[in-house]
Amino acid sequence: MRAKEGAQQRTNRGVVGDSREAGSSVLKKGQTSLKHNMGEAGVAAMAVTYQKFDPAAYLQYNYIPPRADFERKDSIVPWKLACLHRAFTEGQQTGAEAVAEGEGGSLDWTPYIQYVCKLEGRSPSAWKEKAARLREVVSDVLPIDVHRAEPMAPDALPSEGADCLVSCFCLESVSPDLDTFTKALGHISKLLRPGGHLLLIGALQESYYFGGPGVKIPVVPLNEAQVCASLQEQGFSLIRLEVYTLNQDMKVGVDDVCGVFFVKAKKN
Ligand SMILES: C[S@@+](CC[C@H](N)C(=O)[O-])C[C@H]1O[C@@H](n2cnc3c(N)ncnc32)[C@H](O)[C@@H]1O
Repeated sequence: MRAKEGAQQRTNRGVVGDSREAGSSVLKKGQTSLKHNMGEAGVAAMAVTYQKFDPAAYLQYNYIPPRADFERKDSIVPWKLACLHRAFTEGQQTGAEAVAEGEGGSLDWTPYIQYVCKLEGRSPSAWKEKAARLREVVSDVLPIDVHRAEPMAPDALPSEGADCLVSCFCLESVSPDLDTFTKALGHISKLLRPGGHLLLIGALQESYYFGGPGVKIPVVPLNEAQVCASLQEQGFSLIRLEVYTLNQDMKVGVDDVCGVFFVKAKKN
């Protein structure tokens, strides 16, 4: 219920600038068209907000302890990495490797790579080899816009689509409402081949986060049932849903997130 109210608030915010009076009269005549316009206006407003997104600050808010404490299994990042590790090492998806940024970024990714080595049963000292391998296999970073029906350039991926798609804290943080979140899920689904796997990580019951000092970015608050319904609507079969509930000490004032979901799903 709280999530529904939150989504409605976000939608309302999208039309405030355009005149709510005009909006309500159109609503009576043609609800679908108004919904479409509100979605578009919300997406445009999000794009403006994201011009102020500060990746270095965001990393400092979310990717250092306590949220990335590799001594604790109940810290968000180790939980997330363990979910990804399991997904990539079970069933038929062996061989894939998680991607981490190499040298030159604003954060030292060494503990991350060491932790993944530990999950893989390798000695933590194998991290240098793994980091070098990652730099070798990640050949490019390409732009994507999840609100476009064709989210990437047409020749960015093989025509049959990718085997696996990993999306992390993106769709709900860039969508003004649930309907736009579901559509964005449909757009990225086009990047996958039929039978391909989606690993989707996202925030639960979050209404905002800080994308930099003073940059408060609205988020569509989701619950587990809404995530499952969106997946079903966009032609995915759910394989697993895992939920992480934040401890009080993970609430560090950079957002109001209550939990994290991890989904493994198959494109029908
Ligand atoms: C909450 S951050 C998540 C960052 C990172 N994936 C993580 O897991 O921490 C949201 C990200 O969405 C990106 N973004 C904003 N608008 C987008 C769009 N229309 N399509 C795809 N990504 C977008 C932002 O640049 C930002 O990196």
